[in-house]
Amino acid sequence: MILLKMAHLEFEDSYEFEKHVARQCEELGYEVVMPPKNQPGYDIEIIKGKERIAVQVKCYKAKSPIAVLNRFMDFLELPIAASFTSGWLITQSGFGKPSMTLVETERPSNLMLGVSTGKTINWKYDPEGKLSHNNESDEEPSHAKEEDGGTKYFGVFTCKGGVGKTTVAAHLAGAFALMGFDVILLDLDPDKNLRKLFLEDPSSDDNEGPASLYVPPHKRDKMGSTITVLNADQWNERAYPEVKVVICDCSPVLNQNPDHLVEKFDYCVLPTTLNPLGIAKGGDVITRTFAHIRKKNKKAEMFAVVNSYNSAQSYERQNSTLLSMLEKSISQYSQTDPKCQLIHPSYAKIRQSKLLQYWGMHIIDGSPPALAFREVAGRNYPRTDFLQLAGFLQDHTSIMSISELKQ
Ligand SMILES: Nc1ncnc2c1ncn2[C@@H]1O[C@H](COP(=O)(O)OP(=O)(O)OP(=O)(O)O)[C@@H](O)[C@H]1O
Ligand SMILES: [Mg+2]
Repeated sequence: MILLKMAHLEFEDSYEFEKHVARQCEELGYEVVMPPKNQPGYDIEIIKGKERIAVQVKCYKAKSPIAVLNRFMDFLELPIAASFTSGWLITQSGFGKPSMTLVETERPSNLMLGVSTGKTINWKYDPEGKLSHNNESDEEPSHAKEEDGGTKYFGVFTCKGGVGKTTVAAHLAGAFALMGFDVILLDLDPDKNLRKLFLEDPSSDDNEGPASLYVPPHKRDKMGSTITVLNADQWNERAYPEVKVVICDCSPVLNQNPDHLVEKFDYCVLPTTLNPLGIAKGGDVITRTFAHIRKKNKKAEMFAVVNSYNSAQSYERQNSTLLSMLEKSISQYSQTDPKCQLIHPSYAKIRQSKLLQYWGMHIIDGSPPALAFREVAGRNYPRTDFLQLAGFLQDHTSIMSISELKQ
């Protein structure tokens, strides 16, 4: 470990770090071509035989956020990237749990993730095992270690119905479960949709029957996780000491949610859609929701997140107009309550998807519970988007190290 620390140089300057990575690529036998400055998508091009690789270099001090990985994966799918055989994303401080979960579940074949230390590049994701034999050690530099933390309560809430509370609560639980956390989902909505969606025996109409989902591990040497749905009166923190993530699917009528739970929320997630009728009132629904929760809970950090985002190019203009209206009203509001913010879609958003739209069909056709995360490899927008949202929230929490206990 001491040796590793000594071998780990810390670069302050991204240009110096880029030059360092370029030298390491040369040592691996690649010819290095530096593209014009500010070339979007990648920083270095490397060539060896038929291989032509786009290398993106990030000099972050903290672990690289999943948004950076997603942007690079999107870039590799663009027509302008078609001439590259693959892409390497190289950082100096490693990758967080959400990023590693994403690549381990999707298994992209055209991507490698590496951490550049003083001596060599330490490969964190190398689907064909081509270069991993160079690894010094699998350990992260010590400064990348996260702090421990207690049980965190997330409330998913808005005063408006049908904007995706239940969908977001369930899939945010799914993203945390993929990352190795056991999650409790508290169904606070009198409609009891969550309970129906996770009922182990879909043919039973037992309101108290077990409702849970086992999320298998994506790596053979790891343990799977469980999502358990409970009613408010079934929840007892002491009975589940290992659970560090509790997510509440709230009733849109604030007073229908038990006060003692609303008071416990560390974080609130407010799904919102970018629709003109909702936003024309100056994002009123969101700011009203912030104010409502604040009356009952003084500590919660609150995040509005855009759900059902249509990322087609033809919606770009509408999205940006509606988004700037929403941003304006929320930033005005946060002057009086700085713990309230809008998550800009470039950090995290939930895209509109058929998988989410038709999620829940299993309760109609009687099949067992499942999330809209396809288990097969390949791009799955709900899984990517919810891992990105969980990653964003995690940067505001200290629950990460708990999952490490399970590995
Ligand atoms: N990102 C998305 N893409 C496509 N469809 C979505 C998305 N998010 C939610 N939906 C769909 O929108 C509908 C409403 O979602 P959901 O039931 O989660 O909202 P809700 O806020 O919990 O509603 P309620 O107030 O009735 O509890 C559902 O049919 C769901 O499948
Ligand atoms: Mg609901």
